[in-house]
Amino acid sequence: MDFQRELEYRASDAERVLNAYLPEEKGYQVNVISAMNYSVTAGGKRLRPILMAETYKLFGGSSPAIRPFMAAIEMIHNYSLVHDDLEAMDNDKYRRGMLTTHAKYGEDIGVLAGDGLLNLAFETAISAFSVEKDRPDIVIKSLQILSDKAGINGMIGGQAADVAEDRSDGISRDMLDFIYEAKTSALIEAAMMIGAVLGGASSEETDTVEKAASLIGKAFQIMDDILDATGDEKTLGKETGQDERNHKVTLITFDGLLKARRAVSDLTDEGLSLILGLPYENRFLEKLIEYMAHRVK
Ligand code: IPE
Ligand code: IPE
Ligand code: MG
Ligand code: MG
Ligand code: MG
Repeated sequence: MDFQRELEYRASDAERVLNAYLPEEKGYQVNVISAMNYSVTAGGKRLRPILMAETYKLFGGSSPAIRPFMAAIEMIHNYSLVHDDLEAMDNDKYRRGMLTTHAKYGEDIGVLAGDGLLNLAFETAISAFSVEKDRPDIVIKSLQILSDKAGINGMIGGQAADVAEDRSDGISRDMLDFIYEAKTSALIEAAMMIGAVLGGASSEETDTVEKAASLIGKAFQIMDDILDATGDEKTLGKETGQDERNHKVTLITFDGLLKARRAVSDLTDEGLSLILGLPYENRFLEKLIEYMAHRVK
C-alpha cells in the first residue's frame, strides 16, 4: 500500500475510535452537543491520534487504554481550534472547508462547545481506567501528560501569548519560540508521549520522544504559517492570509519564506533522527514525520 492510502486508512481508524466516544444529540442542551459533534466530525487530518497510535506501535504497545486517549487528544485539539477561530481570537469563518463552529452556531455556543469538548476529553481519558485494569500507573501518567500539555504551560499558555503580544512593537524570537513550543508542540508532545507511555517506554525513552515531538511540532506550526502565506484556500479548507490580516508575527516575519522552509526541514530532520536513534522501528511513523513537513494542507 502506498503511504497516502496507509494514512487515509489510519485517519479513518482514528475517526472510528473518536466516534465511539461522541455524545448523543438529545436533551435541552442539544445545541451544544450538536456543535461539539459538528466540529469534531468535520474532518481534519487526525494527525495527533495517528501520531499517538504510531508511537505506541513503535514501542510494541498492547494496552487498550490507547483508544480513549486517542479520542481525548483529538477532542482537545478540536476544542483548541473552535476557540482559536472565535472572533475574539483569530476571527475565522472557515475551517476544513466548512463554516467554523461559532459561525454556524453563534459565539455563545461556540464558546460552550469548546468547553464541552475539553471536559469530554477528560471524561473519555478517565474511562481508560475501566479498560486498563492491570496498569493504572500508565493511565495516571498519561492523564498527567495530557493535562499538563493542554494547560497554561502548554497549549493554553501558547494561545495566550499568541493573542497577547503587542505586535506593533514586534516580539522577540524568544517569545515566538515560546509560542510555537506551547501552542502547537505541546499537544504533539502529549500525543507522542502518551503513545510511548501506554506502549511501555521507559522514562528516558519518553523524554527522547518529548524532545523529538517538540521539534516536529515546531516544524508543523512553521509549515502552517507558510501555508497561510502561500497555500491554496480550497486545499487547506481555511482562509489564507489570516496571519497577515491579524498582524501575527511568525518565523516568516523574522527570516523570510526561504529560511522558514529550511527551518521546517532542519527541525524535522533533527526530530526524526531522535526517533531513529531509539532501538525500535516504525517505518510508517518515519514517513509520517516526513510527510508533515511537506504537506500541502
Ligand atoms: C491546525 O492543526 C492548528 C495548528 C496547530 C497548526 P491541523 O493542521 O492538525 O488541523 P486539522 O485537524 O488537520 O484540521
Ligand atoms: C493555532 O495556530 C494553534 C492552536 C493551538 C489552535 P493557528 O491559529 O495558526 O491555527 P490555524 O491556522 O487557525 O489552523
Ligand atoms: Mg491562532
Ligand atoms: Mg487560527
Ligand atoms: Mg495558522
